[in-house]
Amino acid sequence: MSILEKIKNLAKENSANTVKLRRHLHENPELSFCEFETAQYIAAELRAIGIEPQEGVAGTGLVALIKGKNPEKRVVALRADIDALPIVEQNDVSYKSKNEGVMHACGHDVHTASLLGVARILYALKDEFEGTIKLIFQPAEEKAPGGASVMIAEGVLENPNVNAIIGQHVAPNIPVGKIGFREGMYMASTDEVYIKIIGKGGHGAAPHQSIDPILVASHIIVALQQIISRNRNPAFPSVLTFGKFIAEGATNIIPNEVYIEGTFRCMDENWRAEGLEKIQKMAEGMAEAMGAKCEFWIVKGYPFLQNDPNLTKQMKAYASEYVGAENIVNLDLWMGGEDFAFYSQKVDACFYRLGTRNEEQGITSGVHTPTFNIDENSLEIGPGLMAYMAMRNLENS
Ligand code: NI
Repeated sequence: MSILEKIKNLAKENSANTVKLRRHLHENPELSFCEFETAQYIAAELRAIGIEPQEGVAGTGLVALIKGKNPEKRVVALRADIDALPIVEQNDVSYKSKNEGVMHACGHDVHTASLLGVARILYALKDEFEGTIKLIFQPAEEKAPGGASVMIAEGVLENPNVNAIIGQHVAPNIPVGKIGFREGMYMASTDEVYIKIIGKGGHGAAPHQSIDPILVASHIIVALQQIISRNRNPAFPSVLTFGKFIAEGATNIIPNEVYIEGTFRCMDENWRAEGLEKIQKMAEGMAEAMGAKCEFWIVKGYPFLQNDPNLTKQMKAYASEYVGAENIVNLDLWMGGEDFAFYSQKVDACFYRLGTRNEEQGITSGVHTPTFNIDENSLEIGPGLMAYMAMRNLENS
């Protein structure tokens, strides 16, 4: 029997267990850096397979190794994020969240159950590959600074050194059975920009006696868009969005200050630094020119996510062997963020999408919504595919 057939059989045999794991995780979601029971559950399942995990990495994260023959040959890391979101679930399902106000609405239950499924498959086949698989169960993908950066700081990519890392994410816009890839830049860096404009409040009828912070802030918002459209090479994507603008005056009151906040995203670390600097200079300069004061601060988020072109090409080829070339989808650039990006700045990385949509069954809600759900057939495809791609990479690199 070929490796592909063996893995497909194991994925099928294990699929009921993977569904059980996913439903348990879905029912018992926990917020970022508070995944205590989740971590215990993962550890128990790994031990049931025969794998001893290292616990307490980055607080609630876990790392485990599956050693094949000649374990020093190469190390491939497989990463799943394990945290949930502060959302009240509205799905009417038997495994609905029992933790009111917390929900696995980004599919991290699926990623975690899948990786446990991968562990079961690869542990059963450990005499049939050379090299080492490093399983990474990462906390807090959803909350800055993100569990990935903490795990890296704690040495997750070392001892043994990781040669390549692979991560998957559910995709409610891709039909179940299909897998999405993109080589090169894929997701954006995410920095938060906070600006407070301090003017001088007064009567709306006497603007000449005040410094109107609303007008100043409005000019700043318009002017900042020029940094994106005039200073950035249009061949490379960059976005600046302000989603909050608070000015608590009234029809006849000019307020003292205005508070605005937004997000700056791009796919280039040099431009990221340069753009942030220009944004700050422009905001402060315009406020000064208009007689107001400007307080400006940045909260740094995730870097941009770079899929190593060679590794991703290779993964795509293995995936087409596993699911058929007709089921491979090319992904568009997406200005969303993902802390898997931290790994991608350090080692060859491939982050791909697992189709989870099923229109006939009405499974179409987006991630981060109260009705997000998946077609559970993806729980057979996901683990088998990841196990196959990892094994083929160990074999051929
Ligand atoms: Ni997610």
